[in-house]
Amino acid sequence: MVLSTSPMVVVANRLPFILAKDSKGQLVRKQCAGGLVTAVAPVVVETEGLWVGWSGLHEEDSTGEIPEADPNDQSPTAGLKSKQVLPVCLPKKKFDDYYNGCCNATFWPLFHSMPDRAVFQADKWEAYRQVNEEFAMLTVEAVKKLVNSNPECIPLVWLHDYHLMMAANTIRERCDELGLPIKMAFFLHIPFPSWDIMRLFPWDDELLQGILGCDSVGFHVEDYCLNFIDCCQRRLGCRVDRQQMLVEHNNRSVSVHPLPISIPYERFVNLAEKAPQVVKNHDQEQLLLGVDRLDYTKGLVHRIKAFETLLQKHPEHIEHVTFLQVAVPSRTDVKEYQELKEELDQLIGRINGQFSTPNWSPIRYIYGCVSQDQLAAFYRDSSVAVVTPLRDGMNLVAKEFVACQTGEPGVLILSPFAGAGTTMHEALLVNPYETNEFAEVIHRALTMPKDERELRMKQLRRRERERDVNFWLRSFLKTVDCLSDDSVTQGRL
Ligand code: ADP
Ligand code: G6P
Repeated sequence: MVLSTSPMVVVANRLPFILAKDSKGQLVRKQCAGGLVTAVAPVVVETEGLWVGWSGLHEEDSTGEIPEADPNDQSPTAGLKSKQVLPVCLPKKKFDDYYNGCCNATFWPLFHSMPDRAVFQADKWEAYRQVNEEFAMLTVEAVKKLVNSNPECIPLVWLHDYHLMMAANTIRERCDELGLPIKMAFFLHIPFPSWDIMRLFPWDDELLQGILGCDSVGFHVEDYCLNFIDCCQRRLGCRVDRQQMLVEHNNRSVSVHPLPISIPYERFVNLAEKAPQVVKNHDQEQLLLGVDRLDYTKGLVHRIKAFETLLQKHPEHIEHVTFLQVAVPSRTDVKEYQELKEELDQLIGRINGQFSTPNWSPIRYIYGCVSQDQLAAFYRDSSVAVVTPLRDGMNLVAKEFVACQTGEPGVLILSPFAGAGTTMHEALLVNPYETNEFAEVIHRALTMPKDERELRMKQLRRRERERDVNFWLRSFLKTVDCLSDDSVTQGRL
């Protein structure tokens, strides 16, 4: 089914796969199985569009070559031909200043409302602007390629996330100069903070103007949209319409949209139906599950301390409940992430040392990636998922857990500070900073009667099935007038 009426140019920090050398020294594609890639790559394939992004290699190690997909590749990117991929190749130092120095050290903490962790350095901000310029120039090449092969088309350029907030105006100006028609949209995958936080960034006016270079701007939830509109009004003096969600800037009108991202629901159901059983100590053992990138926004320390409090206040759970925490290594070059890893190792070691018995340890901790099958099995066989970030744009783990609950229904514990907390009403909400209350909520989840669990899970699953990642994609295409008629009649919009 053709969803989009325009060829799509996705511009994201990362390509939908990374490049690595295999055992024979050949360059091969390595898949990243995120929901975004699953949903968006097929649209790029079917509209014969292009994907601009970083391949994981630096200029020093790369020839710019993109290998074709392996003939056995079954992933959503298998149909993406090498000529549809434009890799951004930069010297290591420059990339590092942009990615670690600015994206991860400034925007990530600031946008998650943790300004004390954010660093503001003019040289890193300059590197960010320059790298955005490089992405922009490559995007113009992509647009040129598409318009040359079909002069009737109007490419849809879709910029993603906090890495690329300064690319739009360069793309617009260059395309105008070259007479290339485009539509341009931006989607932010993390929260957009309030004005009071945003104004701490010394170059906030430039940043806001950068985003306003697009025609359409999307955030996960309405609160983030309103924060953005507020910043545009207060910092740039733009005329805004909060009802219609419009911002006027430089005689253009920019539309703002709440577009809650989701997951490929049916894919997770299928995985859960086929996945092997998780090994438990005994039949009655209940698993509490946490699955996160190892990131300070995810509230891992708070969660583990709440579990410790549960064992102290409700010793009846000793030997009957195990906390399984899976943490994916992330941004390991950044000091804060290294420190968090050490803190967790110590905390988990201390709690296991204190509470373990000859046949049981309270915390099973996996530091690493697990396969999709394994992940689905964990989701399906856990009694409780604990998704308690201190701040999170959306959080897909909460949705994946719900999709995989194909057997005995479990309970979802969710933080109100995640985007998912605003729509998944049947979850048990808990403030992760309130340790005692948190422990009581875990106890309540572990002892919840079956009929209540069933009722809650049924409703959670129904919503996520209807509002899956394809619904998100169609909603987005509708905001930019690119949703094909076919897909309006076949889809739910
Ligand atoms: P974020 O984008 O901040 O990492 P999300 O919860 O939105 O947070 O998305 C995390 C994604 O990473 C999910 O799709 C999840 O399945 C995947 N993931 C998390 N932990 C692991 C792991 N240990 N192994 C494999 N995939 C993981
Ligand atoms: C979040 C961001 C993504 C990013 C991902 C992994 O989900 O919104 O843009 O790709 O984290 O982080 P990394 O820095 O490894 O790309």
